[in-house]
Amino acid sequence: MAASSTFRYSLLFVCISVFLSFALADDPTVSYKFEYSYITASPLGVPQQVIAINGKFPGPTINSTTNNNVVVNVRNKLDENLLITWAGIQQKRNSWQDGVLGTNCPIPPKWNWTYNFQVKDQIGSYFYFPSLNFQRASGGFGGFIINPRSVIPTPFDNPAGDIIVLIGDWYIRNHTDLRKTLDAGKALGMPDGVLINGKGPYRYNDTLVPDNIDHETINVEPGKTYRIRVSNVGVSTSLNFRIQNHNLLLAETEGSYTVQQNYTSLDIHVGQSYSFLITMDQNASSDYYIVASARFVNESTWRRVTGVGILHYSNSKGKASGPLPDPPQDQFDNTFSMNQARSIRWNVSASGARPNPQGSFRYGSINVTEVYLIKNTPWVTINGKTRATLSGISFVNPTTPIRLADQYKVKGAYKLDFPTTPLTGPPKMETSVINGTYRGFMEVIFQNNETKMHSYHADGYAFFVVGMGYGEWTNDSRGTYNKWDGIARSTTQVYPGAWTAVLISLDNVGIWNLRTENLDSWYLGQETYIRIVNPEINNKTELPMPDNALFCGALSRMQTPQDTSLATSVVFSGGCGWVAAVVMMMMIFQMLVF
Ligand SMILES: *[C@@H]1O[C@H](CO)[C@@H](O)[C@H](O)[C@H]1NC(C)=O
Ligand SMILES: *[C@@H]1O[C@H](CO)[C@@H](O)[C@H](O)[C@H]1NC(C)=O
Ligand SMILES: *[C@@H]1O[C@H](CO)[C@@H](O)[C@H](O)[C@H]1NC(C)=O
Ligand SMILES: *[C@@H]1O[C@H](CO)[C@@H](O)[C@H](O)[C@H]1NC(C)=O
Ligand SMILES: *[C@@H]1O[C@H](CO)[C@@H](O)[C@H](O)[C@H]1NC(C)=O
Ligand SMILES: *[C@@H]1O[C@H](CO)[C@@H](O)[C@H](O)[C@H]1NC(C)=O
Ligand SMILES: *[C@@H]1O[C@H](CO)[C@@H](O)[C@H](O)[C@H]1NC(C)=O
Ligand SMILES: *[C@@H]1O[C@H](CO)[C@@H](O)[C@H](O)[C@H]1NC(C)=O
Ligand SMILES: *[C@@H]1O[C@H](CO)[C@@H](O)[C@H](O)[C@H]1NC(C)=O
Ligand SMILES: *[C@@H]1O[C@H](CO)[C@@H](O)[C@H](O)[C@H]1NC(C)=O
Ligand SMILES: *[C@@H]1O[C@H](CO)[C@@H](O)[C@H](O)[C@H]1NC(C)=O
Ligand SMILES: *[C@@H]1O[C@H](CO)[C@@H](O)[C@H](O)[C@H]1NC(C)=O
Repeated sequence: MAASSTFRYSLLFVCISVFLSFALADDPTVSYKFEYSYITASPLGVPQQVIAINGKFPGPTINSTTNNNVVVNVRNKLDENLLITWAGIQQKRNSWQDGVLGTNCPIPPKWNWTYNFQVKDQIGSYFYFPSLNFQRASGGFGGFIINPRSVIPTPFDNPAGDIIVLIGDWYIRNHTDLRKTLDAGKALGMPDGVLINGKGPYRYNDTLVPDNIDHETINVEPGKTYRIRVSNVGVSTSLNFRIQNHNLLLAETEGSYTVQQNYTSLDIHVGQSYSFLITMDQNASSDYYIVASARFVNESTWRRVTGVGILHYSNSKGKASGPLPDPPQDQFDNTFSMNQARSIRWNVSASGARPNPQGSFRYGSINVTEVYLIKNTPWVTINGKTRATLSGISFVNPTTPIRLADQYKVKGAYKLDFPTTPLTGPPKMETSVINGTYRGFMEVIFQNNETKMHSYHADGYAFFVVGMGYGEWTNDSRGTYNKWDGIARSTTQVYPGAWTAVLISLDNVGIWNLRTENLDSWYLGQETYIRIVNPEINNKTELPMPDNALFCGALSRMQTPQDTSLATSVVFSGGCGWVAAVVMMMMIFQMLVF
C-alpha cells in the first residue's frame, strides 16, 4: 500500500512538473476528469434520475484563465450517446472540440473522450452542458469561468468572492420522458419548478412549497462586494432574477464588460449568462430572498415555477419571511423588458482579453457583406411529424458530421443552401447549412413569429447585438441600430412578434452551430450551421483534426473500438497519464546516461 501511494505521489509530482514545463514552453493547462452518470435526486421533493458529473449535480465549475489549455476527459456512464458543448466559449480555430452533432461524432456509452482546447481572447462567464437527446433537461451542466491574466486590468475592484448561480426551469419527468412527449407531437407544458444550483425553492410559503426540499444558501460577509455569475441553464423559460433589497450592478455578459448599471431585477433568457457585482449593504435584520421567477406567463397559474434561494449575512438576525420581492409590474407594457435589454451596452473603454482596448474594434463602420433574415414560425407538421423550423427548414442532423465530411470529402452529407430570406413554399426537413464567407461581415436578423420568447445562440462567435424591435423587420429598421456600443455576446433574446439584429465578423474558421437555446424547439430542428472555410488551406486559421477524433456515419469503418473493459481499473487521473509515463522513462534514461 505504502509503496503504491508513494508511486502515486511521484506520479502526481511528474504530472505537475509536466504541466509546468508546458507552461514554460507554452500556455498552462488545466485538466478535469468528468464522469457522467445517473444519480437519484429529489430537487423538488420527488425522487428522479438526474445526470450528475462525478456524482454531483450540478457539475463542477471549470475555472480557467485566458490562454489556458483546457483538458476535459469525459467518461460516458449514461445509457446513451453524449457530447459536451461549451456555450459561449468561442473555440478559436477549433470547431473540432465544439461538442455538437454537426462537428463531432458522439461519445458512445461506456467510452471516454478527451476534449482539449485553448480558451483564448475571452474573459467572463459561461457554462457547459450535454448537447444531445434533451439531456440538459436532466442536468449534466456546470459553470465555466475564464479569468483574466494578471497583466490585464478589470474594470472593477477584485470582489470578495466569486459565486456561480445556475438557474433554470425544471421538470420532474426525465429527459427520456420529455423526449417522448415531443416525439408524440405534444408541447411539454408548464415546468414543475425552477432550480437554483440544482436545488428547489426555500419554503417561503407553506402551501406552495412542500416540506423537506433542500434550497440554496449563499453565505456572505456584511459590507463586502461579491461577483455573482448567473446563467439560465433551463429548458425554455425566461426567468426574472432578483435579490431582495439588493441592487444588481451588471458588469459582464458572456465575455464582454458592460457599462455598469444597477438593476433591481434582470430578465435572463435561456442560455444567457451575466455577472453582477452585489454589495452587501443591508442591515441583516433577516436573511434575503434570491428569486428566479418565470417571466411573461400568467403569474397566478405559474406561481410554482419560481426558484427561491437565500442570501445569508454572517451577522443575520433571522430567517427570511414574508412575500417575495415583486417582479416587474409590466403586464400592460411589453416594451419594459426590451428596453432593459437595449440598456445593456458594451463598455468600449474597458480592456478585453487582449491588452488593446475593446473599443478599437469599431463594428459600426464595417461594411456588411452578407445578410440573412432568419425567421421561425410556430411548430409545423412535416411528413406527419411535429417539427420546428428556421426560414422554413427543419434541420436534420447529418449522419456524418459536416466538419468530418469536409475533411474526408464525403459527398452529399449536407447542402450549402440555407436561404438568405425565409422560404415561401411548404416547410421541409434538410441538412441545410449557411455558406459563410471567411473574413466577411454578416448581418443576421432573427424574426420571431411565435408567441413565445426565444433566445438564439451562435457557437464559435460573439456577435454584436445592434437592434431589437416589435413587428416585422424592414430595411428601415437599420436606422435604429446601435452602431457604437452594442454588446458583444453569444446568446440574444428575440421577443415574440419581434426581431433582433446581430452583426458577426466571420473570422473564426470552422463549422458553427446557430440555434435556438429553447431545448424543445432545438430538439425539433430549429437550428442550422454556418460554414466558414479559409480558401487558403493552412494550419494557422484552423487547427488540424485532433488525433482522437471519433468517426461515424460514412466514416464509421475508420473508428477503432475502445476497450471499455479497462474503464474501471484506470490508475492515472486527468489526461496526463501517458505523458507522465513518457517523462518517467525519459528521467530514468537520463539517470542511466549520466
Ligand atoms: C426516465 O423515467 C422513466 C419513468 O418515467 C424511467 O422508466 C426511465 O428509466 C428514466 N430514464 C432515465 C434515463 O433515467
Ligand atoms: C480514458 O480515460 C483514461 C483515464 O481516465 C485515460 O487514461 C484514457 O486515455 C482515456 N481514453 C480516451 C480515449 O480518452
Ligand atoms: C468602463 O471601463 C473603464 C476602464 O476599466 C472604467 O474605468 C469605467 O468605470 C467603466 N465604465 C462604466 C460606465 O462602467
Ligand atoms: C479560480 O482559481 C483562482 C486561482 O487560479 C482562484 O483565485 C479563484 O478563486 C477561483 N475561482 C473560483 C470561482 O473557484
Ligand atoms: C401562499 O400561497 C397561497 C397560494 O398562492 C396563497 O393563497 C397564500 O396567501 C400564500 N401565503 C402567504 C403567507 O403568503
Ligand atoms: C449601484 O447601487 C449601489 C447601492 O446598492 C450604489 O452604491 C452604487 O453607486 C450604484 N452604482 C451605479 C453605477 O449606479
Ligand atoms: C433594516 O432595513 C429594513 C429595510 O431597509 C428596515 O425596514 C428596518 O427597519 C431596518 N432595521 C434596522 C434594525 O435598522
Ligand atoms: C390567469 O389564469 C387564471 C386561472 O387560470 C385565470 O383566471 C386568469 O384570467 C388568467 N389571467 C390572465 C391575465 O390571463
Ligand atoms: C464601405 O462601402 C462604401 C461604399 O459602398 C465605401 O465607400 C467604403 O470605403 C467601404 N468601407 C470600408 C471600410 O470598406
Ligand atoms: C459559398 O460562398 C463562396 C464565397 O464565399 C462561393 O465562392 C461559393 O461558390 C459558395 N458555395 C455555394 C455552394 O454556394
Ligand atoms: C407571423 O407572420 C405573419 C406573416 O408575416 C404575420 O401576419 C403575423 O403577425 C406574425 N405573427 C407574429 C407573432 O409575429
Ligand atoms: C497541418 O498539420 C497537420 C498535422 O499537424 C499536417 O499533417 C499537415 O501537413 C499540415 N498542413 C499544412 C498545410 O501545413
